[in-house]
Amino acid sequence: MPFSKHPSLIIRQADPFNAGPPPDLLSRDEITPADLFFVRNHGNVPALDPAVYRLRVGGLVARPLELSLEDLRRDFAEHTVAATLQCAGNRRMELLSVREIPGEVPWDLEAISHGVWTGVRLSDVLARAGIAAGAAHVAFTGLDEVERRGRRFGFGASIPLDKALGPEALLAYEMNGAPLPAIHGAPLRLVVPGYIGARSVKWLGEIVIQDAPSDNYFQSVAYRLFPPEADAATARDEDGRMLGELFTSAAICAPLTGETRPAGPTVVRGYAVGQGGAAVDRVEVSADDGRTWTEATLLGEAEPWGWRLWEAEVELRPGLQTLVARAADAAGHGQPAGLAETWNFKGYMNNAWHRVAVVGIIKT
Ligand code: MTE
Repeated sequence: MPFSKHPSLIIRQADPFNAGPPPDLLSRDEITPADLFFVRNHGNVPALDPAVYRLRVGGLVARPLELSLEDLRRDFAEHTVAATLQCAGNRRMELLSVREIPGEVPWDLEAISHGVWTGVRLSDVLARAGIAAGAAHVAFTGLDEVERRGRRFGFGASIPLDKALGPEALLAYEMNGAPLPAIHGAPLRLVVPGYIGARSVKWLGEIVIQDAPSDNYFQSVAYRLFPPEADAATARDEDGRMLGELFTSAAICAPLTGETRPAGPTVVRGYAVGQGGAAVDRVEVSADDGRTWTEATLLGEAEPWGWRLWEAEVELRPGLQTLVARAADAAGHGQPAGLAETWNFKGYMNNAWHRVAVVGIIKT
């Protein structure tokens, strides 16, 4: 397995490398071990020498900065934030049962992981540069190289200034208490808890404070959400909604579709997240396609910006049946029931109730 990743990783694309853990390992630990943490790349993994690395900060600032890793460690307070990263394309595979989605990575439920990130606050670095009048967005560019529409450029994103000033937005050089691995953005990456993973720019090279969102392809064209009826051939980029906050969602990691289990009481396990990082309030599981629901036990402790692993015991009938999971968060957000409501031609943000078809068997 490349990049010292776990040999069980499911590879969705070899080059660029896109992979995630199998559901049983994904839901095993509250903190996803680094070798199991999902990987989403659009281009190469740049080899960056930490000794010569510099982060540039400019745009609408009083003082443009050029910071080495040593400057960051020496001049700013260190902070640690536990945060779940989830790709906007997580659970795209289910949407493919509605209609095809050409040209996008067919993630099942593994484009999500929970990490503990250590670094300096983005807000502290912005304050050092001095935020000038007119600032409304903060743009980020990675040092990787991506090719789109015949042009080569670094992956980029932006977030609203308010979000950038939150204590949770981190410039991270450590993951799970160890140096950040190259595949996850070393020597420095942005972590934007509660937002789609695409905003957490890896191999961060430049921060620019500006009056408008980034014009980088991955902010201005990709990662926009269109309604189910929009058509790829006719939709205009600007009509899609620029994605930011993640949606409330729950997924079943065990049993898996096609699995056979003895009829009777059976344990269902999975993960759930709240909108924009809100706490998960409740997860429910149905063994009769949504007619009746059993409340799941939320495992571990509620953490801001973190997912919640859960388990529930339901009664499996003999024969083929569908198990369904749904979550609600503390801010009152729930999930749409069906894939017809969440389908869109880019396959983003599928948070329909999660269904798995399983077979109960009677032991003789
Ligand atoms: N940053 C750069 N420079 N290049 C990328 O391709 N992918 C983004 C984001 N940051 C990406 C990036 C996407 S879409 C996601 S979901 C997360 O990184 C995934 O982070 P991970 O690979 O550490 O899990």
